[in-house]
Amino acid sequence: MITLQHNRSLLPFNTFGIDVKASLYTEIHHEDHIRKYRERADLTKLPLLILGGGSNILLTQNFPGLVMDIRIKGRVLKGEHQERVVVEFGAGENWHELVLYCIAQGWGGIENLSLIPGKIGAAPIQNIGAYGVELKDVFEYLDLLHLETGQIKRFDAGDCKFGYRDSIFKQELKGKVVILRVALCLTRKNHRVKTDYGDIKKELKDRGLREPCIKDISDVVISIRQRKLPDPAETGNGGSFFKNPEVPTEIHDLLKEKFPEMPSYFVNEATMKIPAAWLINEAGWKGQTFGNFGIHKDHALVLVNYGGASGKDIFDLSTRILNSVKEQFGIELEREVNVI
Ligand code: EPU
Repeated sequence: MITLQHNRSLLPFNTFGIDVKASLYTEIHHEDHIRKYRERADLTKLPLLILGGGSNILLTQNFPGLVMDIRIKGRVLKGEHQERVVVEFGAGENWHELVLYCIAQGWGGIENLSLIPGKIGAAPIQNIGAYGVELKDVFEYLDLLHLETGQIKRFDAGDCKFGYRDSIFKQELKGKVVILRVALCLTRKNHRVKTDYGDIKKELKDRGLREPCIKDISDVVISIRQRKLPDPAETGNGGSFFKNPEVPTEIHDLLKEKFPEMPSYFVNEATMKIPAAWLINEAGWKGQTFGNFGIHKDHALVLVNYGGASGKDIFDLSTRILNSVKEQFGIELEREVNVI
């Protein structure tokens, strides 16, 4: 049986806190619920929105179709080796809760990804990343259901075509599959903690931690994030709104001459990455407020809804930011958040 709710407000299901309605809404607790959906021609003809934690979407209008809220649970130890474990999670498991669970078990690899909002089923879609670690670094496999054929398939990292905040699920397979389970490969001992990211290094030094364990790293990441990024439970936001742009080295060098203080990161011989936050900051947007929405005062990459703003307000603001960065630096920012 598939249980449907009509005209359901999506306010509790998106971290931006946008109040729009879906014509139809259903919770998916098991893959059989998706099979039942596939048998309903009246439903399959409607536009479909698959919702994970709702932490990377901006809803700009009422959704004239069916919203599938993925609630599939489960934590299963699939393999135990001397140095590593493979653990499989239901797509609806909360990401941060499972990070803390893994750390409590003594499993390492995702401590740098503490406090990222959302659910694990959405993590591969944008290859979540923070402080020098990306999901792809610990990814083992995922199982997905193909909506057209009903087949369940297992994808390894190569199949997922992971990139910077990108995967096959944002491209060719967008809207065509539902991720059911995701398995991670984590270390049991000889953890390789990653501490090279500037903020982490500094915080560890301040705390006098020379040989941090995975729990120390998680604590440090949590405190950095709490200091810099607004808590979506208090202030509506979708994390980084734009991707950090990658530019040809020649363009980077010209900009660097003009703005010697501009930070940048090496990608490869031909490409450099520039923090979008710096560009937006430099363009004067940081901390600006327009009634009930604006740009966060502590991080220029985060657009915020102080309560009651519409998705269109935020989208229009993002367009103004895009245009002003383009005008001042000649760089075209790309939205990281999915606009619906
Ligand atoms: N900066 C500014 N102004 C600001 C903030 C930052 O100029 O208001 C500059 C600073 O030079 C800083 C640099 O930008 O050193 C980078 O800032 P930060 O370390 O905060 O990282 P980010 O590049 O803005 C990325 C991810 C975040 C992730 C952090 C930490 C993207 C789009 N964002 O942000 O991911 O948490 O690194 O690894 O890649 C997300 O995807 O939603 C997200 C929050």
